[in-house]
Amino acid sequence: MNLGVLISGRGSNLNAVLSAIESGDLPARVALVISNKPDAAGLLRAHEAGVPTRVIPHGGHPDRASFDAALVAALREASVDLVVLAGFMRLLTSTFLDAFPNRVVNIHPALLPAFPGVDAQAQALSYGARVTGCSVHFVDAGTDTGPVIAQAAVPVLDGDDRAALAARILPREHELLVRALRWIAEGKVSVIPAADTEARATVRVRGERTFFGLEEPSVPR
Ligand code: GRF
Repeated sequence: MNLGVLISGRGSNLNAVLSAIESGDLPARVALVISNKPDAAGLLRAHEAGVPTRVIPHGGHPDRASFDAALVAALREASVDLVVLAGFMRLLTSTFLDAFPNRVVNIHPALLPAFPGVDAQAQALSYGARVTGCSVHFVDAGTDTGPVIAQAAVPVLDGDDRAALAARILPREHELLVRALRWIAEGKVSVIPAADTEARATVRVRGERTFFGLEEPSVPR
């Protein structure tokens, strides 16, 4: 499975994918990393791993569709089968999604459909949610609305600020993303199309548990 990973920043999820490949835990290769930001730290990790990178700044394109067409061209040139959005901060248009139908996966730091969009950790905190987590899902035309592959729950603790909560969710993201990619590589994941226009597409994962519970935190009393 040839992965194309799209990033905009730190790249800790990209790092988790590369580390899993390096340790033999993920039967895949990263064929290309694309960043829309030239200074994304994740690019350095890709260089270290000897993975080809491209910087495609969104600002250099007159509209979203032409930016997406440039992404698609680069991914096709690298023979990418599956695209991973790992902290990629741009919404994709149908130009992109039609080129990779059910072949774009995103990691989101909340239990969808709760808290879609930007800064899901801050949304969970300001809502007063007691449980949040992360979701890996296929990407559709909406914002974080595509069918869920797997989810992991994470507690919100008294006194959490955004950074503390994000730091508790992040390692669970890394674990969940790698698992979901492994299942896809193993051919265990199918998208069940929506039965009618009212319904949603869903995902079935053969022989795997797709939910992960709250890790018991050591809470000071
Ligand atoms: C992660 O929290 C991911 O869920 C969200 O953006 C963040 C990216 O972090 N979509 P990183 O660049 O992978 O470290």
